[in-house]
Amino acid sequence: MVFSEKLLQRLKDAENVAVLTGAGVSAESGVPTFRDPGGIWEKFRPEQLANFEAFMNDPDFVWSWYQHRREIMREVKPNKGHIALAEMEQVFPKFGLITQNIDNLHFRAGSKKIIELHGNIERNFCMKCRTFYEEIDLSEKKVLKCEKCGGLIRPDVVWFGEMLPMNELRIAEESAANADVFFTIGTSAEVYPAAMLPIIAKRAGAYVVEINTKPTAISAELDEILTGKSGEILAELITVMKSTRNLK
Ligand code: OAD
Ligand code: ZN
Repeated sequence: MVFSEKLLQRLKDAENVAVLTGAGVSAESGVPTFRDPGGIWEKFRPEQLANFEAFMNDPDFVWSWYQHRREIMREVKPNKGHIALAEMEQVFPKFGLITQNIDNLHFRAGSKKIIELHGNIERNFCMKCRTFYEEIDLSEKKVLKCEKCGGLIRPDVVWFGEMLPMNELRIAEESAANADVFFTIGTSAEVYPAAMLPIIAKRAGAYVVEINTKPTAISAELDEILTGKSGEILAELITVMKSTRNLK
């Protein structure tokens, strides 16, 4: 992969780097994306499962779908891309990793500060008293009730029709607006407000780079497009970043 002189110079000078990731960064780990052929929405209509009414109508069914997805996500491992992103946190004085993924793979790869816009499948909470429950046993096939109040326990993920967590969104927007270089990686950039972040960065003067296997809804508006698998490109990029900044 050839990186432009302009990108190399920007990375050399950058104080502040922000990254937005989507399902594509986990594709090389074996987690299916949403909108690619064979993706999750081809098998299940989202309105059937990932929403409040569906859960209230048949909590056991929706719960079992999430348990199934947790099973997939626990079996897979972070890939070279997740690992490179965890290393990038050490390279720049300020670094923001913003993810739309709920699969917990950035955390497992060693990233410390992660802004989770759509929640995390390993976290759950009681809908009545908001007690949190983590890393639930996969043998629990029926929806769990809260130990404290008996309320229904749901996954801490953003469902269709729900607002994004306000604090996370605010921090993400700030990171985008303050970035010298902004990467949008493995996301189709079709779901808002996440898809606004590269545009916010661009308007604020960042050099905005997309890494994706194919063009997206916003490619034409960005500064540089790196076409290919994010795991492979990020592994090369982290080596370049370290050498331009004289790090081991
Ligand atoms: P999508 O499935 O919409 O897009 C995945 C993107 O990854 C596509 O642009 C692919 O071309 C790209 N891609 C696939 N394999 C890749 C690879 N190895 N390397 C780089 N890119 C690759 O997923 P998202 O953009 O993440 O929201 O979807 C956004 C949101 O839509 C999700 O967070 C989810 C869904 O509704 C919620 O659940 C709230
Ligand atoms: Zn409770």
